[in-house]
Amino acid sequence: MRVLVTGGTGFIGSHTVVELIEAGHQVVIVDNLVNSKRSVLDRVARISGTAPEFHEADIRDETALDRIVGGGGFEAVVHFAGLKAVGESVRRPLDYWEVNVGGSTTLFRVLDRNDVRTVVFSSSATVYGDPDEVPVTEATPIKPATNPYGGTKQVIEQILTDLHASDPRWNVALLRYFNPVGAHASGLIGEDPNDIPNNLMPIVAQVAAGKLPEVNVYGNDYPTRDGSGVRDYIHVVDLAEGHLAALDRLAVDSGRHVWNLGTGNGTTVLEVIAAFSAATGRDIPYRPAARRPGDVAETWADVTKAERELGWRAGRTVDEMCADTWRWQQYALTLDG
Ligand SMILES: NC(=O)c1ccc[n+]([C@@H]2O[C@H](COP(=O)([O-])OP(=O)(O)OC[C@H]3O[C@@H](n4cnc5c(N)ncnc54)[C@H](O)[C@@H]3O)[C@@H](O)[C@H]2O)c1
Repeated sequence: MRVLVTGGTGFIGSHTVVELIEAGHQVVIVDNLVNSKRSVLDRVARISGTAPEFHEADIRDETALDRIVGGGGFEAVVHFAGLKAVGESVRRPLDYWEVNVGGSTTLFRVLDRNDVRTVVFSSSATVYGDPDEVPVTEATPIKPATNPYGGTKQVIEQILTDLHASDPRWNVALLRYFNPVGAHASGLIGEDPNDIPNNLMPIVAQVAAGKLPEVNVYGNDYPTRDGSGVRDYIHVVDLAEGHLAALDRLAVDSGRHVWNLGTGNGTTVLEVIAAFSAATGRDIPYRPAARRPGDVAETWADVTKAERELGWRAGRTVDEMCADTWRWQQYALTLDG
């Protein structure tokens, strides 16, 4: 298949590109590099043996997209591009609506015009908000978003749902990711934000590396087994494989599908810190801090539907997630800029 990957130099995108190439697909990336580096392309080539075609372009740029998609012979699009920091979305809502939603509608318009209507979209467990029950299934009600980032994910899901209703040739997978972490086992690619990290695992890695002094554990009085928050961490390579499984499924079962991509297991913040310390043999100082507004106590996925319909399973353990993150973290320190 010839596949367009928006946001393909980013964290999840780059791992998915590797898996796509290794499965024999032809990959074309569109990314404006706002949160990733061009050097990812060389590292993807080192891992997979093939350098993907790359276009530095913004998904809001309709003319550029038309040039890339027109005559490109694409059979499917995996759409990762967007802004993803929850806190930043509260401070800069217009940017989030403009890039995530505006960029997506521009992309979908260009795809429609060019008869490319198979889309795998990066949604998020954040659409469930604070769920009444765990584990969360795809039928768990969507709650009103508590921040603009979550709002944009809900709206893009709705736009793709509306497109499918308007024309059944739109073949759509809404993938609701739980907490992607880890890195490629080669240690050559991983999460590489251009800014200070927002998520637990990169922060823990930077504390282990001595780049940050300690981990703030937001909330130690949740009704969980050790008082810290529980999340469903999924290894990014398992997640990447989920995208290939979704593409395969769309090819034989067209329609509008929703799949939770997680492991089905919850891990506490303190357990992640302990696992990372064991994986690295380093002490990881942490201290309790106040709960953050909008954080939920615990959430993890019911992955029965994804496992049954995609024939896919996230099998990598938290220990592997920590070991791979650490290998990547050490390599990342040697990279320029
Ligand atoms: N990482 C997570 O925890 C998580 C969880 C759920 C959903 N998601 C979603 O998955 C997708 C990928 O996330 P990620 O963690 O790989 O993030 P990332 O920031 O590493 O990747 C996003 C990529 O999109 C690019 N991009 C941003 N705005 C763009 C624009 N206007 N035009 C072109 N490219 C643009 C960035 O440069 C980056 O390479 C995002 O849509 C994110 O919201 C991520």
